[in-house]
Amino acid sequence: MHNHLLQRHLPQIIDDLANQGWSRLEDFLPQTLTHELAEECRKRAEKGALSPAGVGRGQGLAVREGVRGDSIQWLEPGQSTACDQYLAAMDELRQALNQAFYLGLDDYESHFALYPPGSFYQKHLDRFRDDDRRTVSAVFYLNANWQTDEGGALRIYPADLEPLDLPPQGGNLVLFMSAELPHEVLPASRERLSLTGWFRRRA
Ligand code: OGA
Ligand code: MN
Repeated sequence: MHNHLLQRHLPQIIDDLANQGWSRLEDFLPQTLTHELAEECRKRAEKGALSPAGVGRGQGLAVREGVRGDSIQWLEPGQSTACDQYLAAMDELRQALNQAFYLGLDDYESHFALYPPGSFYQKHLDRFRDDDRRTVSAVFYLNANWQTDEGGALRIYPADLEPLDLPPQGGNLVLFMSAELPHEVLPASRERLSLTGWFRRRA
């Protein structure tokens, strides 16, 4: 459905991932869809559907606010038109990444995330120690008119380079190799919304 937008961004995505292991795209989706997704995230938060996020997985999953302070809800197909459009766009991206890099990505998992003012996520890698399926991380931001002085940047630590701060501007999509790029979420003075997800390969 949003194929034209993805096509427009694809050369940059492929170039960036090949050369630096991460990529940032602006206006990745139509503004109306970004707005609908933001509304849906806020609606879910208001009715209490978001839960404090955990650290680790399976038996080792634990909520630790000193590590990360966001609340999340996983996306399932068929919950809303906006979410289904988002999932469709990410599935097109998954196929394009497979064609470009032969990654064997066969799955995408994604959740809404809401960081209340002052909350953060300490520096980490997205790939679990005991599960190496997460291959490409994708964070899509839902915050209209974000101001740099509101904080909340995604701080990335590319190898051999200075850390870089990427503000969570609505419409921006950040992609990176899950096993390679350390990153953290800095506290913000304003509520910070996103759709965070992972393209996974077979176990
Ligand atoms: C995560 C994460 C980054 C962001 O959820 O693992 O690092 O900018 N999120 O929200
Ligand atoms: Mn992360």
